[in-house]
Order: sequence, then structure tokens, then C-alpha cells
Amino acid sequence: MVSWTEADEARSADWRSEGGTPPPKRVVVADDTISADAAYRLACEGTAILWRGDFQNARQLLQAMARRIDRKPAAKKKDGEVIPLSEAFNKHRLAQSQRARTLGMLLLPFDADFTVPLRRAPDVRQACLEAYGKVEAPFVASLRELLGLIGAHEWHRKGVEVAALGERIHPHYGVFAPTRSEYIKLVAEAPLPSKDLAFDIGTGTGVLAALLAKRGVAQVVATDLDPRALICANENFKRLRVNKQANAIQADLFPEGRAPLIVCNPPWVPARPSSPLEHAIYDPDSRMLRGFLSGLAEHLTPRGEGWLILSDLAEHLGLRSRDELMAMLDSAGLKVLGRLEAKPHHPKVADDADPLHIARAAEITSLWRLAAADPA
Ligand SMILES: C[S@@+](CC[C@H](N)C(=O)[O-])C[C@H]1O[C@@H](n2cnc3c(N)ncnc32)[C@H](O)[C@@H]1O
Repeated sequence: MVSWTEADEARSADWRSEGGTPPPKRVVVADDTISADAAYRLACEGTAILWRGDFQNARQLLQAMARRIDRKPAAKKKDGEVIPLSEAFNKHRLAQSQRARTLGMLLLPFDADFTVPLRRAPDVRQACLEAYGKVEAPFVASLRELLGLIGAHEWHRKGVEVAALGERIHPHYGVFAPTRSEYIKLVAEAPLPSKDLAFDIGTGTGVLAALLAKRGVAQVVATDLDPRALICANENFKRLRVNKQANAIQADLFPEGRAPLIVCNPPWVPARPSSPLEHAIYDPDSRMLRGFLSGLAEHLTPRGEGWLILSDLAEHLGLRSRDELMAMLDSAGLKVLGRLEAKPHHPKVADDADPLHIARAAEITSLWRLAAADPA
């Protein structure tokens, strides 16, 4: 619940945050008369602002608050000082989460049917339904979260073009969207060890499972822990007409049995996610990577291959060394048959104002072809 006082009356409503933010403790009511400076000050102090003014003005206010954060000068470096990338990464993450917290302080009221009872509010009912499911009562959520929901709804509606598939994948809210093409191309080009059966571990939108099915693999069992991913993947299989070959089921890593090909694109940065929406990228202590590697040999058929898709960004950031990765493979009883490499093409690679630019510019994504060192 979130509580506030309005016209001398104590009020409260349900609190919603798919980003996992706890409800703000202090809330004041404001409208178009508040200045951006005053709103920014309140947000920085941890006081949330429940908006009663015009919806479009709230959007502009949020942008004005963001500009105030973004123009704050970064901490000065001493002459000649070189900040290690691991430190720059931690600072960058901290700044990102502070930014999210501050901008998450501008709140909107919602009716139980997802209408936003404000002047010039758009119809966001479908976007909210896709993320929240049905709700019973009016609630309060942040404008920043709503903008994320609207963006996700547009992606879901239009889909993401996947060149290697020659079709579009429609991501659901909160499911990892295949906007980077390089890793998909690797899976499209690697020589298939068998066309009988494949497992796709952590399938997300189902993009890799669908690709394997399009490449002629007769049966693909895809797994994920996230129920949204399972619905999303199965919908994509249907849309891409591979639902007779591919099926997504809930499992922690592997389904039952063995397969001659097991593919996995785990989260690639071993750090704590700052919201549930980041679970597909950040994996504390490389939990999924370790789990995949340690269970791989016992799920492969003799002469089967495991395809691990992994960016080396963590290595450039000093978060995991190549030696550690090789030691993980070794202790999992795996050998490397080969490795295909690709350079990511995403907008941040070209952004030299990004504090992690050096690491991103050096990043390589690999498809590691793995096999049991001592097949059972
Ligand atoms: C980086 S995303 C990859 C999604 C998709 N395979 C792709 O390549 O676009 C990692 C996926 O692994 C899933 N995941 C994380 N831990 C898992 C586990 N223990 N078992 C199954 N899936 C898991 C996440 O929900 C997420 O969908």
C-alpha cells in the first residue's frame, strides 16, 4: 500500500512496481503548479509526488527531472588517474539505480480498469494488462514504470525483426528481447551436430529454439523459469509455425533426458540485478552459467554438443576472468571443440561518452562448442 494526505484526509491505494521498487514512505500530492526544481528536490530527498495535473505535463516534468540528473558533473578524476573498469562499472550501476530511484518518485493514479484519471492521459489499458494481468482495485504506480510498459507494449505489438529467422519475434513485457543480432547469427551458422533433438535452456522469447526448428531440428524442448517467457516463447512458436517442433516448458535449467544438441545463452554479467527485469542480463556469481556447465555433460548424448553463447564483457570489466571460465569448463568435465566469434553491434558500442565504452568496444560474443571430455 501507499498512503498520503489529500484535502486533509488520509488516503491510501495499492502500490504496483514490476521493477520491484518498495512503496515510497512519504508521498505528497502535486499538479502542474509545481516547478521542476521543487519536484526534483522532493524526489532526491525520497519524497514521492502523486500527480493530479495534466498527464502530458507530467511527462515533461519527468524529462526535466532527468535533465537535472544527467547534467550533474561526474566526480572529478585527479590528473593522470586511471579508474579501473571494474570500479567504473560499479559507479555506473550505482548512478543508474539512483537515477531510477529518483525518477521513480513521480507517481500516477490508476483505476482498476487501468484508466489513468488525468487530463490528456492516453489509453494505456492494454499495455497495463499485458504487464500486470487483471487487478481488482485502483492503484498507484510510477510514471517511469508506465512509460516502460508502453514501450514494451509497442515492441510486443510490432515485434523485433530477426534477420537470421527472416521473421519477427514478439517479446512480452519483462522477457529478454533479441535486439542484438550477433549471437543469433552465430546459432544460425554453427554446424548442427544432429537434426533429431535439441534443448534450448533459458529460452526467453524462444528465438533460438525457433531458429533451430527453422534449421530443420525435428524437436526442440525449450525451458525457462519465468512464466512470462514460457507464454511468450510458445506464442512465438505458433506465429512462426514451428509449434509442432518446438515447445517451451518450465524447468530450472535442463528438461528430463539427454539431447545431441543443447543451447544456452545465459545472462552474461556476474553482478546483482537491480530489478527483476534485469535477471536476463545480470547473474550473481554466474549462477546460471555454472549450473548449465555443471549439468551439461550428463544431459548430452554421446558425441553431443553444448553451445554456450557468452559475451566476454564481464572479462573486460574485470568481473570474471577467462581462466575462471576455463576452470569452470574443466571442473564440469567439458572440452572445447571450437569457438565461433562475433562482434556485437549495438548503439552503446559507438557511444564514447559511455563510461564503459572501452569494455563495450572490445566486447566479443562467442559460441563455445562444448562436449563431454569423457562421454558416458
Ligand atoms: C539472456 S536471456 C536469453 C533468452 C533467449 N535464449 C535469447 O537468447 O534471446 C536468459 C534467459 O534465461 C532464463 N533463466 C534464468 N535462469 C534460469 C534457470 N535456472 N532455468 C531456466 N531458465 C533460466 C531467463 O528467464 C531468461 O529468459
